[in-house]
Amino acid sequence: MILDTRDAWRETAGRLDRSGGDFDSVFGTDTGADELHVERLPPDGTRYQPTRVGAVLEALRVLELDLPRWTLLDLGSGKGRIPLLGAAIGFRRSIGVEVRHDLHEVALHNLASCRRRGLLSGQCSFIRANVADVAIPTDATLLFAFNPFGARTLAGVLGGLCDARDAGHESRLLYVNPIHASTVDAMPAAARIGEGEGWLAWRFR
Ligand SMILES: C[S@@+](CC[C@H](N)C(=O)[O-])C[C@H]1O[C@@H](n2cnc3c(N)ncnc32)[C@H](O)[C@@H]1O
Repeated sequence: MILDTRDAWRETAGRLDRSGGDFDSVFGTDTGADELHVERLPPDGTRYQPTRVGAVLEALRVLELDLPRWTLLDLGSGKGRIPLLGAAIGFRRSIGVEVRHDLHEVALHNLASCRRRGLLSGQCSFIRANVADVAIPTDATLLFAFNPFGARTLAGVLGGLCDARDAGHESRLLYVNPIHASTVDAMPAAARIGEGEGWLAWRFR
């Protein structure tokens, strides 16, 4: 599917490209990195940093998903940049899971602001939880991860993904800054389907 012909995609990706990838200026949000680390993370959790949206748009062009059929699940969603982007460019449903209360609250604030401004065409929601405790959706799901945690948590989440796949659902993983790529490659069900600057993607068969 050619994403650039779809209205929601074309409008949002075009505005982001013209802004030089400045997500907050386009969405009117606060998703910048926070230097204060006020809450404890799970043992292998990484600190908050937002993803460069250019990498995500590039990856989605390569993956050629029919977005209105897909759910986007951001593992460690921080201030909500990726689920908000997903809901603006045409994913049917976007969900962010974030363990830190303070970041989750900022994401909810950003969501309310984007809704008021009419920027979101798809559903968008945020869950304050450890991803280890969250069930993977059973519809066609793209998991998104920007190096949120270590190999142990990643392997646990992918186990849940494989259970969902066993029930006949499609799953993909888009992993930005994929420092634990070998954990994914070691899963018999995982097959690489794309790569670019700083990201890798897998399909689960
Ligand atoms: C590198 S940031 C990525 C933020 C966001 N995905 C983005 O790309 O803009 C990683 C995030 O994962 C969160 N995190 C780490 N371990 C987690 C866990 N076990 N469950 C949920 N969130 C977690 C951190 O608090 C942080 O906000």
